[in-house]
Amino acid sequence: MSRAGVDRPVVVLVGFMGAGKSTVGRIVADRLGVDFADTDTEIVTRSGTGVPEIFATSGVDAFRALERDVIVELLTGHRGVLSLGGGAVTTVEVAEALAGHRVVYLSVDPDDGYARVAGTDRPLLAAADPAARYRELLAERTGSYRAVATVEIDGTAGDPEDIADDIITRIARELVPERTS
Ligand code: S3P
Repeated sequence: MSRAGVDRPVVVLVGFMGAGKSTVGRIVADRLGVDFADTDTEIVTRSGTGVPEIFATSGVDAFRALERDVIVELLTGHRGVLSLGGGAVTTVEVAEALAGHRVVYLSVDPDDGYARVAGTDRPLLAAADPAARYRELLAERTGSYRAVATVEIDGTAGDPEDIADDIITRIARELVPERTS
């Protein structure tokens, strides 16, 4: 149990596709000795079907509703590191539910980020020009990531181990109260 008698994530990672949220999140969780959860994986486990299939058969709104329910639940039940799918913060209830949590925005250089996801089956990049779509969506969402974040770290500025170290350092700083005298 933690503050206010509820289990809550040590840190929540948000950011665009290709920012490295899951890779870095797993390393942070491992180093802190806590569990790691990723909302896409949780949705797949609960629904028994893949993310692209949910988009194809039920549509984006149905996916966002599943995503919202999973996130709201994990924000009060998961004590480890929680990584959110790249579009989760666009759901108003999710953005509101993140208030009061330690939220790290892993930002991304557009070229590096796109190189990481090119050729994967991200449904929202199924466009005639996926690279342009990637840049367009990233630009649209940057404000939403910043609005929920307590810390911003460039997810493409180093290898995942270094970024994980950076996150742990920043978290530790927040956990140790500053001396006032
Ligand atoms: C999405 C990002 C994906 C996944 C889904 C929608 C988005 O997660 O949730 O394809 O809207 O940006 P990742 O950020 O882990 O790729």
